[in-house]
Amino acid sequence: MKVAIVGLGFVGLSLAVVLSAKGYDVFGIDVDVKKCNSIRKGISPFFEPGLEKMLKNGLKKKLKISDDFSVIKNVDMIFVTVGTPQSKSGAIDLSIMKNAIKTIGKIIRDSKKNQIIFIKSTVTPGSMEKIILPILENTSKRKAGKDFGLISNPEFLQESSAIKDTEYPHAVVLGGYQTKFMNKAKKFFTKLHSNTPIIITNHQTAEMIKYANNSFLATKISFINQLSNICQKIPGANVDDVAKTIGLDPRIGKLFLNAGPGYGGSCLPKDMRALINFSSSVGIEPSLLNAVEKTNEKQLENIIFKISKTLGKLKNKHITILGTSFKPDTDDIRDSISIEVIKKLLKKEAKVKIFDPKAMENTKNVFNDKIEYAKSLSDSLQKSECVVIMVHWKEFEKLNNSLISKMKKKFIIDCRRVLINKELDVKYYAIGIGEKL
Ligand code: UGA
Repeated sequence: MKVAIVGLGFVGLSLAVVLSAKGYDVFGIDVDVKKCNSIRKGISPFFEPGLEKMLKNGLKKKLKISDDFSVIKNVDMIFVTVGTPQSKSGAIDLSIMKNAIKTIGKIIRDSKKNQIIFIKSTVTPGSMEKIILPILENTSKRKAGKDFGLISNPEFLQESSAIKDTEYPHAVVLGGYQTKFMNKAKKFFTKLHSNTPIIITNHQTAEMIKYANNSFLATKISFINQLSNICQKIPGANVDDVAKTIGLDPRIGKLFLNAGPGYGGSCLPKDMRALINFSSSVGIEPSLLNAVEKTNEKQLENIIFKISKTLGKLKNKHITILGTSFKPDTDDIRDSISIEVIKKLLKKEAKVKIFDPKAMENTKNVFNDKIEYAKSLSDSLQKSECVVIMVHWKEFEKLNNSLISKMKKKFIIDCRRVLINKELDVKYYAIGIGEKL
């Protein structure tokens, strides 16, 4: 079985190395020549636990990386994993997708194979039927369902656990028509993930499931963040105990109830906006989704308000930001709340110094010499008048009185309650913990 994966981001590259480890002939394809050259050498373009090791192993066997799309002519399955970024209106921008499928269509036109094309990229409901399918049929001069298969196959992996999630997904969704291709796809996934539920549905429903999933996760986060703000007004109240206990109720579930500075990353914020936009376009007022998004934005303002309240005017104040990635175990800073906090602090002319175990380079590409880059956790505290912990990196748990003694003023804002159980000689404020009167 020969498989091609078009688009080597988190989803595509993870799938490529996992399928390769399972013995498939895999062609990883991307238009970015520089990226392909680096991947071919066994260097991942981003940090993802376990990925680089699997990549190196795969390259020794049957994994091939190329910017040449023509290889897909002879494969059995094509997974499209290109980005669908956000446009100015909030809707998704399908231009990368359209280019990719036009190229695929032209190549499969002269192919003797009856490929199955899986669309893993996140697209709003109706995109398959109205846009992707017609383009593929026009460019290939072949008929979907007869000459080639077309299946919506949304992805649910999380960055930082991409490999595990690709190997063991909680569900596989296959959207499309009940054809021989759907049967083949079902067999393929049953073999790949033996105990995973496979949901077979139509294109529109598969597309909607992806947005339902991410918007529900965002809703849980905004819910607990709003509760954390209420807890803060109740002396001694603890949002983590609240979350832990309601999470024991199986109707609620314990995951995604960690209060913090708000959700970031390249998916939840973008998908929320796209669903809000889509909902309005079909005449449904997205009142709950709007509230979830607003609550998320407010959380960022709360942090800035707290810093200002304690330090007064922020001009020339030395502030340390710990963690710039959008969550731990990744170097990804796309739509990271921490980056937004830094931008706001710079507007107020504060002196910002940052430390992140993996995302220093990516952060440098955004701020250049506008901020300082600490060499270590200890270095980040020198002369600091306020430390803001934005991300729960394990390394930050090492903060102790000896390290804190380097600070000029001892004030910590802990957005993730990393230090909640420590006795520290510091003015300490944690999101979700009611301040003592
Ligand atoms: C998210 C979804 O979780 C995946 O299922 C989905 O496949 C992916 O988007 C996607 O659409 O591609 P990811 O972007 O990797 O995955 O990030 P999450 O782990 O969902 O975290 C998103 C943000 O929420 C982070 O900023 C994180 O810190 C925050 N978060 C998460 C909280 O503040 N509290 C929580 O309890 C959980």
